[in-house]
Amino acid sequence: MQHYTNINDLDSLQKTVAEAIDLKNNELQFKTLGEGKTICLLFFNNSLRTRLSTQKAAQNLGLNTIVMNFGSEGWQLEFEDGAIMDGDKSEHIKEAAKVIAQYCDIVAIRAFASLTDKEKDKAEIVINSFKKYAGIPVVNMESATGHPLQALADAITMEENKVAHRPKVVLSWAPHPKALPQAVANSFVEMMQLQDADFVITHPEGYELDTDITKNSTIEYNQDKAFENADFVYVKNWSSFKDYGKVVNKDKNWTVTADKMNLTNNAKFMHCLPVRRNVIVADEVIDSENSVVIEQANNRTYSAQIVLKKILESLN
Ligand code: CP
Repeated sequence: MQHYTNINDLDSLQKTVAEAIDLKNNELQFKTLGEGKTICLLFFNNSLRTRLSTQKAAQNLGLNTIVMNFGSEGWQLEFEDGAIMDGDKSEHIKEAAKVIAQYCDIVAIRAFASLTDKEKDKAEIVINSFKKYAGIPVVNMESATGHPLQALADAITMEENKVAHRPKVVLSWAPHPKALPQAVANSFVEMMQLQDADFVITHPEGYELDTDITKNSTIEYNQDKAFENADFVYVKNWSSFKDYGKVVNKDKNWTVTADKMNLTNNAKFMHCLPVRRNVIVADEVIDSENSVVIEQANNRTYSAQIVLKKILESLN
């Protein structure tokens, strides 16, 4: 695998999930694979799980790791070709990407959506510019439109908690005071499109995700109806895609409570974290034995580790 910027970069989701679970059972079995090689983790935005789990995954493979909070510590980058750089941008991506590539063998990048310019966000300018100019493998640690390391960790978690029958999986919007990107929801949808499941997306009207991503996925505007007989309930807030980046609804009736979970088939509760308690989900749900959010966060290590292993194998 050359790059990992989308879940569809995997040759097989099911095979990769099985390999990740095998790695989890013996996480140091490839501890010399990355010897003598370095990964740079560049953060244009904050992180807890992604930063620590990707660093741990790299260390488990013997990779040296350099971490930079690019958003607060790096020069402001210009991405436009032919720009007259007489404003506040100090360095062009053309130089920055090539310079960074001299210090490492793989670069992993977190660069969230602006939520102000839909077309620019859809163009994935940061990730694609690194792909274009760095000349080394690029890993997406959450970009403007996707979070494929999270989606792979979610797939691992569902496999570990699988039910005997074809599962019903619900992706539910929930309220949040701030405008959040659609990236996690997008990648979860793309991952579910690779699964054999009854998959339903539920959200209030006005919160439709990009139809280029949802394609013909089932959408149910009645959350209670969507929850009926669900085996997995994946909850996430996102801001409006149509009224781009706006919070158009804060309806507390969409908060996931025990009453809502009682409509399901004893479903597992999933969330990528961080989560706002008693806004997105009631304490009684996230603290229940059906909540697998801590397992999900643990599986971020094995999601990153299997991806880095595949990239290292293609370098060797
Ligand atoms: N789920 C996730 O990506 O967490 P962080 O934003 O803390 O990295």
